[in-house]
Amino acid sequence: MKARHWQECEATCQRVLDALDWAALGEIYFHWGGVEFWQERRPQVLVAGFELARQLLRRVPTGGSSLWVGAGVAELPVLLAETMIQGRKVRATNLRARECEVLNAALQQVAPMATARFEAIDAAQAATDGGYDHLGCISVLTDPETWPLLSDVAYGRIAPIQIDLEQFVRERELATALTRSLFAALRRPGWITTTAEEVAWFLDTASRVEASCVADDDMIETAVVGDPAGFLRIG
Ligand SMILES: C[S@@+](CC[C@H](N)C(=O)[O-])C[C@H]1O[C@@H](n2cnc3c(N)ncnc32)[C@H](O)[C@@H]1O
Repeated sequence: MKARHWQECEATCQRVLDALDWAALGEIYFHWGGVEFWQERRPQVLVAGFELARQLLRRVPTGGSSLWVGAGVAELPVLLAETMIQGRKVRATNLRARECEVLNAALQQVAPMATARFEAIDAAQAATDGGYDHLGCISVLTDPETWPLLSDVAYGRIAPIQIDLEQFVRERELATALTRSLFAALRRPGWITTTAEEVAWFLDTASRVEASCVADDDMIETAVVGDPAGFLRIG
């Protein structure tokens, strides 16, 4: 991959970050500290985001397609790199409609030629199209807004005695259904980018359908949530 392509992509990403409505993003992430949170994390979005992008592009082929689940600011570098450098298609889904609006407005304003856009839909819906050779699922099955109890359990924030078992079973069934629909949308051989906290969902699904699932050693700490992300080779 030519260094010039990476430089252009990084410059585009920087322009998109500069054009983002950080006050609006601060409101969306207000429970994490809003605008101050983003000021602190912003430099890391480029550094960690492009580290993840370089690692991913070494693995996935030119011209394939990715389904990204719960993609946000942290995934901007990798989405731009996949589309601009490797000629891949991306579907970037996120349940927060306002976040998609803010991200798409910045992309439209400063990078109208870039094909990466965010869709405010459930990834399970995008999964029905199938044919993806890569799934990106970073800090989604640990999302405190979507699965409050699974999130507390995954991050060790709750004592066993405090677990509401009915809620736990409900959330686990929903997360299992989502993981299976995502896995079914993946062509084999394929790749999954996910975090250490989520990997067990994919290992469980892979074993149920007798797919091979091998984790690579490379791990990158993600820019926003700070979870360790890595790559699973699915066969
Ligand atoms: C904790 S955030 C992580 C965002 C980003 N991946 C990161 O690492 O910074 C989790 C995101 O997953 C999204 N999400 C949860 N379930 C989803 C689903 N079924 N389809 C699409 N997005 C989903 C939420 O809307 C939220 O934006």
